[in-house]
Amino acid sequence: MITLTVNGAQHQVDAEPDTPLLYVLRDQLQLNGAKYGCGLGQCGACTVIVDGEPVFSCLMPVSLLAGRQVTTLEGLGTAEKPGPVQAAFIEEQAAQCGFCIPGMIMRAQALLQKNPAPTEAQIRASMNPNLCRCGTHSRILRAVARAAGGAKERT
Ligand code: FES
Ligand code: FES
Repeated sequence: MITLTVNGAQHQVDAEPDTPLLYVLRDQLQLNGAKYGCGLGQCGACTVIVDGEPVFSCLMPVSLLAGRQVTTLEGLGTAEKPGPVQAAFIEEQAAQCGFCIPGMIMRAQALLQKNPAPTEAQIRASMNPNLCRCGTHSRILRAVARAAGGAKERT
């Protein structure tokens, strides 16, 4: 058994030590926000936050997560009450198929937690590991900038 802390709640998970976090989130905890894109650390659809850092959950063995804080898309808000970054993506309608968006939101969230007022260049550099096959990049960048503006207003 491995004890995982996800979105502030502790879970006892029965999994092989090298099971990717993504599989545990989706198959055992029914947290389906993180998506399986490539399974190879190349697309970012599976991005979650671990101790403040964005990570590819498809590559993260669950055994490395004891005592660490995992945050998933579900930890940021709900459909009824989206968090600020989620709300900015909705306001900018920053999705086509939407498959990449949970990972984009989590990477943006990690950036804004560290740097609430990033420059456009910093946003671009930070979001670079996450891919969008639909070509929604310009809306995604606008959404992150909008969320940053909101963060500035709140401070
Ligand atoms: S599914 Fe993890 S990086 Fe693509
Ligand atoms: S909106 Fe379809 S992959 Fe990004």
